[in-house]
Amino acid sequence: MKETSIILVCSCLFSIMTFSSAAGDTIAAKESISDGQTIVSARGEFEMGFFSPQGNPLNRYFGIWYKKISPGTVVWVANREAPISNTSGVVRVSSRGIVVSTNQSTRSIWTSNSSASVKNPVAQLLDTGNLVFRDENEVENFAWQSFDHPGNTILPGMKCGFDLVSGVDRYFSPWKSDDDPAPGEYTSRLDKNGYPQLILMKGSVVRYRTGPWVGSRFSGVPVLKPNGFYTIEYVITPTEVYYVNHLVNSSESPITRAVLAPDGVSTRYKWNSDKHSWSQFLTLEAGDCDRYEACGRNGVCNVNKSPRCECIKGFDPKRPEHWAEADWTSGCSRNVELECGNEDGFFKYTGVKLPDTRWSKYNMSMSLVECEDMCLKDCNCTAYSNTDIRNGGSGCLLWFGDLKDMRGYSADGQDLYVKMAASELKGSKNSGKKTRVWIVLIPVFIVLAAILCLFLLYRIRKKRTKRAGIMQLNLYNVGDATREEGPDLDLPLLGFIQIAKATDNFSDNNKLGEGGFGAVYKGVLEDGQEIAVKRLSKDSRQGVKEFMNEVSCIAKLQHRNLVRLIACCVEEQERMLVYEYMPNKGLDSYLFDREKCKSFDWQKRYNIINGTAKGLLYLHQDSRLRVIHRDLKASNILLDYEMNPKISDFGLARIFGESETEACTTRVVGTYGYMPPEYAIEGLFSTKSDVYSFGVLLLEIISGKKNRGFSHPDHNLNLAGHAWRCHLENNLLSIADEVILNSSNEHEVFRVTEIALLCVQEYPEDRPSMSSVVLMLSGEIALPNSKKPGFYSDKQKPNDTTSPSSNNTSCSINSASVSFYAPR
Ligand SMILES: *[C@@H]1O[C@H](CO)[C@@H](O)[C@H](O)[C@H]1NC(C)=O
Ligand SMILES: *[C@@H]1O[C@H](CO)[C@@H](O)[C@H](O)[C@H]1NC(C)=O
Ligand SMILES: *[C@@H]1O[C@H](CO)[C@@H](O)[C@H](O)[C@H]1NC(C)=O
Ligand SMILES: *[C@@H]1O[C@H](CO)[C@@H](O)[C@H](O)[C@H]1NC(C)=O
Ligand SMILES: *[C@@H]1O[C@H](CO)[C@@H](O)[C@H](O)[C@H]1NC(C)=O
Ligand SMILES: *[C@@H]1O[C@H](CO)[C@@H](O)[C@H](O)[C@H]1NC(C)=O
Repeated sequence: MKETSIILVCSCLFSIMTFSSAAGDTIAAKESISDGQTIVSARGEFEMGFFSPQGNPLNRYFGIWYKKISPGTVVWVANREAPISNTSGVVRVSSRGIVVSTNQSTRSIWTSNSSASVKNPVAQLLDTGNLVFRDENEVENFAWQSFDHPGNTILPGMKCGFDLVSGVDRYFSPWKSDDDPAPGEYTSRLDKNGYPQLILMKGSVVRYRTGPWVGSRFSGVPVLKPNGFYTIEYVITPTEVYYVNHLVNSSESPITRAVLAPDGVSTRYKWNSDKHSWSQFLTLEAGDCDRYEACGRNGVCNVNKSPRCECIKGFDPKRPEHWAEADWTSGCSRNVELECGNEDGFFKYTGVKLPDTRWSKYNMSMSLVECEDMCLKDCNCTAYSNTDIRNGGSGCLLWFGDLKDMRGYSADGQDLYVKMAASELKGSKNSGKKTRVWIVLIPVFIVLAAILCLFLLYRIRKKRTKRAGIMQLNLYNVGDATREEGPDLDLPLLGFIQIAKATDNFSDNNKLGEGGFGAVYKGVLEDGQEIAVKRLSKDSRQGVKEFMNEVSCIAKLQHRNLVRLIACCVEEQERMLVYEYMPNKGLDSYLFDREKCKSFDWQKRYNIINGTAKGLLYLHQDSRLRVIHRDLKASNILLDYEMNPKISDFGLARIFGESETEACTTRVVGTYGYMPPEYAIEGLFSTKSDVYSFGVLLLEIISGKKNRGFSHPDHNLNLAGHAWRCHLENNLLSIADEVILNSSNEHEVFRVTEIALLCVQEYPEDRPSMSSVVLMLSGEIALPNSKKPGFYSDKQKPNDTTSPSSNNTSCSINSASVSFYAPR
């Protein structure tokens, strides 16, 4: 993307004018280069002169670009913030530095502000792409160099970092956009605080850290492996800290550059001389777990876990209620405060991205043992690690205060030793110092554990509950349940006979409903627990093993707005899922029931809307599986005793497999009226298909009418079409159920209706993601304008005009019709 645009810059550059190169690679006093002239480095690697970005042909900038390869790929710009609006630009040198001005005036537009004035000034473009300002006779000592003032591009040999003596701080800032070289809002720099680390900031907010340098790479960039063509040198001295990349063999290695894009993403490109184009070599991808402090303080983010955030050992969520809703920002706090002194010990964490080092101290010559000692002595020290992981590890890095922005890796990552009160380090080897205490405590524990076991056994025999747990699972397996399964399933298995008994042999009286995936029965287990049993239709051709894998995955999806799976049953042809029973049945039983809907006020509906949105967000984004529901509808939103919504049937699409569901869309997955056009017509689904269904659901909740089967005397539109029509007529609230409208909640109803229209837009890319929807519902972000919904009309009739006529009053027949205009 980036490359093409730059190559376009190039063609544009050269189509506007032909360049004439000034002699040599230097500008000396009394010489100048004007717009149209260029200077080329000695071996012809780089060229400098005036150019215009592609989308901005009127603005002229003085810059440096590749000459031999890829002319037009600009690597540095002088007057980034002060373009010249015509071709009168001139570059000269003075004793104070390089000056960019126009030919009519001596007032500079940009100067290089050299640190010292020189007698015989020259500016020279080197073959590295470095523009230097020096005295004619001082070949090595530069009074100024462009490599000290980087833009968005890192070239080999360019240092990034700071020099405490000269005060130079070299950091990178992207262009504002592909057409505007002015500094964008991000910066990528080495931070001076604590042990230096590379951080990406947006304004003054930290967005991403690569983690500190650990000898061979950055702690948080495991993809940065030794490679054949460039190396990174990282230098830490008391006065100077920087990293710099070098080509392994400057005549052999492919040319490379790293670019910080306007959106803050860093990408390293490699020149492919065969294809004559740039290819991406490495991207510092800011994924979910790379976002700074994704899991709050003392939390660890792991993309392979569900949920992806957890507290480090000895810590618990500060706000468990937020964590339960997948909002991890509040982080974790210690269970037991540190005692300070020799009572504390350390827990070794392996495979982590080291925490934010802005609150750290380091000593590169200390060993790990000395490091531990030092941390133990300092009451404020909370963790330690090596600074260098090579050759078995060396150096000492100490953290103080909360541990921020950690991430877990399955293979790569470092060891981190976290200080913990001795009582938290039960049985781990670090607690050796307290052997005496343990000798006393261990027998006590054994006795307590024995009592506990006996108690549990007693309870289980008596009650036979079915909560997840291996021990209980084994008990259930005795007798009628299947045994062919591996023991690692953390979901209890129930036998067919047990379920048959509980559901009165699947009697029709106990049937709660029939869904796309099979029939649902109500049952009561021996211990009195009410359950809902989904007997899956036999379409799934999955083997027992795959099915069990899938089910145990689904069992791990836990959220307060998802129905809880409590057990399953696999026997020969039978596949059954056992859920908690929801006494208030499906949302449809309230919404579309003339009597019940009268007491179904807005507060209840709004609560259901919010809960459903959160459950769906969890499925889409916060769970490891990234489940697309594909059959979201009113009857799949179940209500508990307190009318809290719980999404059911999630994850079933996975069990039935992609190919099957596509082949049998109508039979297995999807319900007309809730399916977006791209799914119904082309079989394409994504999280945005669920968003569409959610939008339809919102409209149904607001209007109390079904989308499909909706009828109106004035037109043949479905509910979504009707809502859109009312929206165009500025009478959106007329679709709302009279029951819910009163003056105090009009704003809310109006807003939710608008959100619904955004969700049912025709094109998936226009629809908001569930995370945006949740923000919109909470009123935290402004609503964009919506476009036409998908299936504007599902009952096509010839001559059905879709544009509303102005004198049409179709939206006013509802007696509760209200006109209400929200400010946009
Ligand atoms: C060119 O633009 C500069 C400002 O960018 C202005 O000062 C100068 O007068 C202009 N010259 C001509 C010839 O238009
Ligand atoms: C200044 O530059 C403009 C544009 O290149 C040119 O037309 C004009 O003749 C120049 N003026 C002087 C005094 O060189
Ligand atoms: C050079 O210094 C002047 C005055 O101190 C300042 O206004 C200008 O922005 C500086 N230019 C650059 C490129 O740093
Ligand atoms: C770089 O490659 C050239 C050509 O293969 C070779 O002659 C030269 O010795 C290499 N230089 C280094 C430092 O490896
Ligand atoms: C680092 O540790 C070594 C060995 O313990 C010690 O001699 C040295 O003074 C320490 N350096 C600093 C800066 O504290
Ligand atoms: C520990 O931190 C507290 C508060 O930040 C400070 O007052 C105290 O001096 C620190 N103690 C040590 C040994 O650094």
